[in-house]
Amino acid sequence: MLLSTLVSLLALTPSISAAFIHPGLLSTEADFTRIISKVNSKTTPWYTGWQRVVSHATLTHSPRPHSTVYRGNGSPQNYADLYRDAATAYALSIYWKVTGNATYGTAAGNILDAWSSTLTAIYGSSDRFLASGIYGYQLANAAEILRAYSGWKGLDATIALLRNVFYPMNHDFLVNHNGAKVNHYWANWDLANLLTMQATGILSDNRTMYDEAITYFKTGAGNGALTKAIWITYSEAGSGKKLGQGQEAGRDQGHSTLDFALLGQLAQQSWSQGDDLFGLNDSLILAGAEYVAKYNLGHDVPYTTYKSDVTQPVISNASRGSVRPMWELLYAHYGSLKGLNASWSKAYRDLVVSDGSGAEGGGGDYGPNSGGYDQLGFGTLLFRLDA
Ligand SMILES: *[C@@H]1O[C@H](CO)[C@@H](O)[C@H](O)[C@H]1NC(C)=O
Ligand SMILES: *[C@@H]1O[C@H](CO)[C@@H](O)[C@H](O)[C@H]1NC(C)=O
Ligand SMILES: *[C@@H]1O[C@H](CO)[C@@H](O)[C@H](O)[C@H]1NC(C)=O
Ligand SMILES: *[C@@H]1O[C@H](CO)[C@@H](O)[C@H](O)[C@H]1NC(C)=O
Ligand SMILES: *[C@@H]1O[C@H](CO)[C@@H](O)[C@H](O)[C@H]1NC(C)=O
Repeated sequence: MLLSTLVSLLALTPSISAAFIHPGLLSTEADFTRIISKVNSKTTPWYTGWQRVVSHATLTHSPRPHSTVYRGNGSPQNYADLYRDAATAYALSIYWKVTGNATYGTAAGNILDAWSSTLTAIYGSSDRFLASGIYGYQLANAAEILRAYSGWKGLDATIALLRNVFYPMNHDFLVNHNGAKVNHYWANWDLANLLTMQATGILSDNRTMYDEAITYFKTGAGNGALTKAIWITYSEAGSGKKLGQGQEAGRDQGHSTLDFALLGQLAQQSWSQGDDLFGLNDSLILAGAEYVAKYNLGHDVPYTTYKSDVTQPVISNASRGSVRPMWELLYAHYGSLKGLNASWSKAYRDLVVSDGSGAEGGGGDYGPNSGGYDQLGFGTLLFRLDA
């Protein structure tokens, strides 16, 4: 076929030109090339980050799938089994990708298969919509890495699980907000459901689903839309740097930091597909990250009274200093890749990795309960770039 004919055929076939890149969630093939090279050369701090993955890639882990997962209500509240299994599947899939050792690929696949063949519903209080948001993208990320493992046949079943159990809840929450006013739920609820919808769209090559998430993020009515999640900005005295107040700043810092763990992962998953959410509205996510980092590092930040169902006249110091494995991703993108001033994010990154471990950990390393599993982590290995 003449090249010109092929080119015009491709141009006429949107389903071909719109194909997704795989792997293309939190990490791409190019990322893994860098990661593998750092591990093989045992370069610090990436190699330290690798040791943290190794400690989570436990072959003896037995999956504990349930046909119904309950969060917030119902008996038994078994959602911890889902997040622990998702975190272990992710570590095992990274181990397989970096070493090529089939034993680990098979172990990761066994966890995903256990859930895809068992789980049919997520119930509970309103918190069921936290489960549909926070754990779906985690399973998807393990599956997205593992899809290249020829010994794993479970990709279609994992996609079916995400599309039939998680996606309908993601969509329902973003449209109906559990029957509440659109601004009732805090930003992290929307953001988590956006993250799983976006990940499922990419994993299953469904552009409609992916676009649904991105369109909501840009122009949606709820608090997870970008300019609602970070709704007012300030010029930092001295530097002139933009600082952005997050929607949950007056609530507590555990949730304020969670929003940026979710925002970073959302932007990273689109970045893998060549779409720049990081840069939207003059890098608004960076402005918000710098604000939340600065305050949680113990410095003062400007604050404007937040009003919706509640009125919050001051920034909340509850759980100030909250630690999550999230700053490597944010600093790598804004500071290392784009050369922007992300000094507060960098300072927070350095604080987190100076806990004696030398690198960001993953699920459970920053708390044994759900908060410790809200984000996938391992950012030193996966996201750190040469200075
Ligand atoms: C793969 O990992 C298993 C379990 O750790 C180990 O016994 C085996 O030697 C490894 N295979 C290769 C080829 O390194
Ligand atoms: C893609 O996702 C949409 C929901 O956003 C769904 O209606 C549609 O059936 C999906 N397409 C395919 C090919 O699965
Ligand atoms: C964010 O950016 C979009 C697209 O450039 C623009 O339409 C919108 O007005 C901006 N919103 C804010 C609050 O700056
Ligand atoms: C935390 O905030 C409360 C309410 O604004 C305030 O009364 C308290 O002094 C603050 N505590 C610290 C340690 O800053
Ligand atoms: C980056 O911003 C900080 C304040 O947020 C400032 O102290 C520092 O000088 C800035 N760095 C550069 C290179 O401009």
